Amino acid sequence: MKEELYRTVVQQVKAVTEGETDIIANMANITAILYDAFGFWWVGFYRVQDDDLVLGPFQGPVACTRIRKGKGVCGTSWERKLTVIVPDVNKFPGHIACSAVSKSEIVVPVLRNGEVIAVLDIDSKDFNTFDETDKVYLERISSLLAMADAFS
Ligand code: SME
Repeated sequence: MKEELYRTVVQQVKAVTEGETDIIANMANITAILYDAFGFWWVGFYRVQDDDLVLGPFQGPVACTRIRKGKGVCGTSWERKLTVIVPDVNKFPGHIACSAVSKSEIVVPVLRNGEVIAVLDIDSKDFNTFDETDKVYLERISSLLAMADAFS
């Protein structure tokens, strides 16, 4: 069920990113596609700008603007260059609560030439929302974004 939805979502992401090199435009459409398909609480990108992650295109309520390397779930994913799944945000030391509604979270790095250029952050109103399936497909989406950007 979730996998089927992700397959459709990946096709949509391919369709909108193919031939478009503007990373902001692509990020904006990717957040809209994921938000619409799954009804997540918050879907957005943070872009690496010097020592900070800076808020980029997103869908959902107002969020924190800047996150330092190594801070929160987003900063941890950036530092480790790895996807981080948090089943219960209350149990993640240093979790940055942009919204009290968020209960679980996944953060996927966007890598270009081995460097993190951004992270994709998704928050859910429920605990234990994200698993290996989300990781696999969101990493694929992250690669599609990085590939489109590589042509710019
Ligand atoms: N919870 C994130 C901060 C970003 S918001 O969830 C949109 C974190 O701990 O990095």
